[in-house]
Formats: sequence, structure tokens, C-alpha cells
Amino acid sequence: MNEGKKKDRERIFSHPGVKKILYGGDYNPEQWPEEIWEEDMRLFKLAGVDCVTLNVFSWAALQPDEDTYCFERLDRIMELVRKNGLYVILATSTAAHPAWMAKKYPEVLRTEFSGIRRKFGSRHNSCPNSPVYRKYSRRLAGKLAERYGGYENVIAWHVGNEYGGECYCENCERAFREWLREKYKTLEELNRAWNTSFWGHTFYDWEEIVVPNMQSEHFEENRTTFQGISLDYRRFCSDSMLRNYRDEKEAIRQVTKDIPVTTNLMGFYKLLDYQKWAGYMDFVSWDNYPANDTPPARIAMNHDLMRGIGGGRPFALMEQTPSVTNWLSYNALKRPGVMRLLSWQAVAHGADTVLFFQMRRSIGACEKYHGALIDHAGHENTRVFREMQALGEELKRLGGGTLGGRTPAKAAILVDWDNWWALEYSAGPSCDLKYLDEVERYYTAFYEQNIPVDFVSVGDDLTGYGLLVAPVLYMVKTGYEQVLYSYVEAGGILVTTFFSGIVNEHDLVVTGGYPGRLRKLLGIWVEEIDALPAGEQNGFVWNGKHYPAELLCDILHLEGAAGETVYESDFYAGSPVLTSNPYGRGTAWYVATRSSREFYHDLVKRLARDAGIEELHTPVPEVEVCERESGEGRFLFFLNHGQEDVELTMEEAGVWLQREKSCEKGEKVLLRAKDVMVYRTGEDR
Ligand code: GLA
Ligand code: ZN
Repeated sequence: MNEGKKKDRERIFSHPGVKKILYGGDYNPEQWPEEIWEEDMRLFKLAGVDCVTLNVFSWAALQPDEDTYCFERLDRIMELVRKNGLYVILATSTAAHPAWMAKKYPEVLRTEFSGIRRKFGSRHNSCPNSPVYRKYSRRLAGKLAERYGGYENVIAWHVGNEYGGECYCENCERAFREWLREKYKTLEELNRAWNTSFWGHTFYDWEEIVVPNMQSEHFEENRTTFQGISLDYRRFCSDSMLRNYRDEKEAIRQVTKDIPVTTNLMGFYKLLDYQKWAGYMDFVSWDNYPANDTPPARIAMNHDLMRGIGGGRPFALMEQTPSVTNWLSYNALKRPGVMRLLSWQAVAHGADTVLFFQMRRSIGACEKYHGALIDHAGHENTRVFREMQALGEELKRLGGGTLGGRTPAKAAILVDWDNWWALEYSAGPSCDLKYLDEVERYYTAFYEQNIPVDFVSVGDDLTGYGLLVAPVLYMVKTGYEQVLYSYVEAGGILVTTFFSGIVNEHDLVVTGGYPGRLRKLLGIWVEEIDALPAGEQNGFVWNGKHYPAELLCDILHLEGAAGETVYESDFYAGSPVLTSNPYGRGTAWYVATRSSREFYHDLVKRLARDAGIEELHTPVPEVEVCERESGEGRFLFFLNHGQEDVELTMEEAGVWLQREKSCEKGEKVLLRAKDVMVYRTGEDR
């Protein structure tokens, strides 16, 4: 991963013809009579579409029964788009199995968390451990590779679609036991890791182990009596679906060696450990579906995660809606300009494509009111079409300068899926403690100060980061403490928070005092943890400002760290709430409670200054500023998410690329509401 980080430019598509940000998206001609296809081609050309994702849900059409495959219609579609100069991201269609398969082999159907076996229906409905599903999905992927791998315009394989969900069937139960055997080797080891002496759970035979769901260990979806078992099941489910993806990837690789393989992810999606998945993806791609009231910082955070799991390399924006989704309670339209703004936001954070779901709005089933380039009206005279056409032209005009560009971040936030799972299963002090909330609080503080930040995993090298925030690092996997000690020793500034260093990778408490293995690094001992019910607050004053303390309040002792400030009330008034511990050439900070947006802002500002990290541009409310650096220059992106026009004072000379306008340092420019400025820094060349 870090090998990649050093290169300043790495494109996601190896195809030499790709010289700009690709534009287009999911296209489902199989849902339409062929007479309409030529009209689609005309409209694509008009809109500047140059890339389509084909064949996402065609398994039933491609394989009408167990022994028959028919590709003739897909052949015609492939010929059509080739003739029209379109690139293809070719999907394998395996995210929904055919009805005949479910009837003949009920084992392909998933069993729900409740224990109910599903019938045929919907999609994302296959048991990941079904031998039948594995056999036929692999076979289909291989056949597609054989048939279409030689098409020069196929630039990527799109395996499955939005892998997700879970299964609790007998296939999975059997496979879970095998997975556990592989992991623990002996039952003694498993009994130890799961602490089965609690509530008389000792296992004497692998066959005694059952899946943890509502029929066994759980009493609510996220509440389990045995965290160790449930945690392993999460890992196992993620691995099982990863195995499905890898099955198909291997089948494709046997036939085509050079075409990159991906699958579309979903940002911070809890059920799959994307940090692990990314290791098997030739490039990361993801689907961005914010609601209209999703804060831009949260969207940015998802983009940055997707960049982070890929080791900092660019990613593909595989889907977004041009206008409206169909699955929210209130499917509000993207307001004029917002589709363009969010497209550029993706590029600003590392995307090398701007792709949509979907090209033509279908007429039946649950997505018939989902936004599309071509509306039910069937022509180009719509607001959405005009906006997409304008963006298509703009992307063409701006060319490929940003392709392969990196985000040079010097600050990082640590995210770890195992920690996420374990924390939210923890049966810990507060049901309101949610990992992503805490991550987002820190992230937003960086975002609002125009400080680029990378998301790193516990497997990543931390060299080059002056500041590392590890929010609620509840689980410190054996050995990871060493990474943190070395990081701080070498001069890094580490921030971690309440409820950190509590358990090891099996969710077993590290005894000897919290925060366990981080105790010496942080120079503190946390004796007790108080949970404040919603609405209750403690507080503290730091640098003359008052801030709230809420959710959790760790009550701690200094063991070498400096107390920066103390709680103001309750029986622990006067005990430290914020500490800093010089260690080696760096410092380890501990934030013993959850506080306000203002506190995170002030803390990050202070620590970024200590680490010598500068903001990209003086913050202007509602204007997001990002950076990418490629072989062709350094690009700043100014994104006005607000409702008002703003005047910006340029802090570097450069060129506003959309307007081909050179700007001096100190020059003032007007950035309209929802407008975007892509700004190549340096003198005009
Ligand atoms: C997902 C899927 C698409 C489509 C869109 C609709 O992202 O991948 O097939 O269903 O949602 O928003
Ligand atoms: Zn199953």
C-alpha cells in the first residue's frame, strides 16, 4: 500500500486511450426494446458520455437454465457501444441469482438474522457460502471474460454489485466452523479467545458451534451475549463475500490479465472490512448517495476513506444519482448545480471518474423514479439532461490534468473495522457511543480548516504524518501499540480518546489498568468511566474557553502526562480531562470525554500548528478546499456548498481552469453559490 503512496501519479485505468475523467454510468439497454438503443447513443453523445457500465443485473437473461447460456443480446449491446466509441466497465451480473436457481437449489437463498430462510426475490440475495452460488458465479464471470475480454474498449471489470448483508444458513454455519478451525487451530485456543468459561459455553466439539443470531447469542441486532463469537462472525461474513469477489476475479484473471478488476463499495459500510477488501481490488470504486441534508463534510469523509483504503491512489466514483434517489423517505431533487458540485467534490478527493446510476430511467419496479440522464420524457429537454450535458462539456474541456493526482496529507485518522465492530458490540458504558460519530467529529474539524487528512488502517505505515488521531481506539490489536509508541517516539503527535486501549483483538480486556497497552505512552491510568445520559453534561475550561463534556467521562490519574485541564463538576471535579504526554520526540494526547464541535476545532487547530501542518487556504464558511497533485501540476478545488456567493482572496497565483483566468496572489474572485473553481497553482504556462 505504501509503495503506492510514494508515486505521485498512478492512473486507475491502464487503457492508454483514457485521457480525461470518464463520464457516464450504469446503462441497462436490456430493459428496453432495441429500437431505442440508437436514440440512447445520440443522447449520450450529446451529453458527453464516454463510458458505460453494462450488465450489472443480467444473470437471469444470460443463463436461462443450468446448462444454457445466451449472450447474443449482450453481444449486440457490446457492438453498439463499441461502434459508438464508448468505454465499457463490464459487470459480471452476479448480485442477483436467477429464479430457476433458487427453485432448483434452495441453498443459494440467504437465511436472515432472525433465522428465517428467504425465498427468491429482490437482489443481493445469495448465500455467500453456497457451493452452487460459488460455482455458477465463477463460471459466469469466466465466460464473460472469454467472450468480451478481447474487446479493446473494456477498461475494467465490475464484479458483483455492492456486496453486503449477511447470511445465517447451514452453509454459513459449516463454513464458519471451518473458518474458525483455520484461525484457532484448537478448541482450547478458541475457548480461550471467546472466554467461554463465562455462562458455561465451553465447546468440546467444533460441531457444537452455531451462528450467532437471534436464535442463539443475540437479543437485538447489535446486542450479543458473546462479543467474541459475534465479532468473529462479522469477520467471517466479510471474508465470505470477499471470497465471492475473489472467486470471480480469479476466473476473470485466468482469461484476461491486464484489465483491472473492481467492485463498487459503499463508503463507511459497516458489514464489510473494506480495508481488507481493497487489498484485492485493482482500484477502489464506490457509490455516493448522500441525502440532501447530508453534511458535505460527511460526504468528503467517505471519499477520503475510499482513497485511504486504496493506499492514497485515485478511486472511481462508480455511481451517484443525477437528481433523485428512490429509496429515501423523502426523495428530494438535487438542487440546480448540486450534481455538478458533488461530482467535483468527488474528483477533489481523489476520484478519476464521474459516473452515475443511471443512464435511462426504467419504467417498472422500485427504481422507476430514480434519477437518470434520460428521463421518462425520453428527450434531452430536461433540467437534469442540460446540467449533465454542461458537466460533460466541462470535463472534456478540463482534460486529464488531475488524473492520477494524489492528496498530500500530513494528518491522518486511524480507522479500523474490527474496532468499529467490537466497540458497538461492547456492551460498554453507553448505547449512544457510535464509532463513526466520533470519527466524524475529528474529521469535521480538519475539514473545516482545509487541512487534508488521510484515513489509515492499522496495517499502514505512518511515516510522513505529523498528526494522527485515533478516535475511540477501544481495541488495540496485539503489537499495534508498538506502532504507536514508535510513531510518537519518532516525533508524531498522537491523539486518542476515552474508552481506548481497553481490549485486545479478541475483545478480551487487557488487565492492569486502562488504557491497557497504551498506558505508558499516554502517561495516564483511567480508573473509572462514567456514562452521561443524553442531555446531561459536565464541562471544562481550556485556554480560557468553556467546553462541554458529555457521553463518557473517563476518570483518570496522571502517570507522567501533563493535565491540560480538569472536569468542573460532579464527584470527579478537579480530575484531568485532557492530557498530553511527551514521549520521545513526540507527544501523546488523551481526550477523556466527548466535547463540542468548537472544542474539536480548537484542539485540531492547536495540534496541527504543533505538527507544522498548514491549512490549504484560510477557511471561508461553507467553502471546501481540497488539493490534488499530479505530474501536470498542483490543483486546488474550491467548492462553494453554501447558498450565498462568496468573495475569495487567492493566496497563491494560479489559473481558474473553468474560466481560463489567471489570478495573482491577493486577487479577489467571486465564487457563486454551488459553484466550483478548479485552480491550477503556479504562474500561467
Ligand atoms: C445502488 C446500486 C444500483 C442502484 C442504485 C440506486 O447503488 O448499485 O444498482 O440500485 O443503488 O440508488
Ligand atoms: Zn448462508
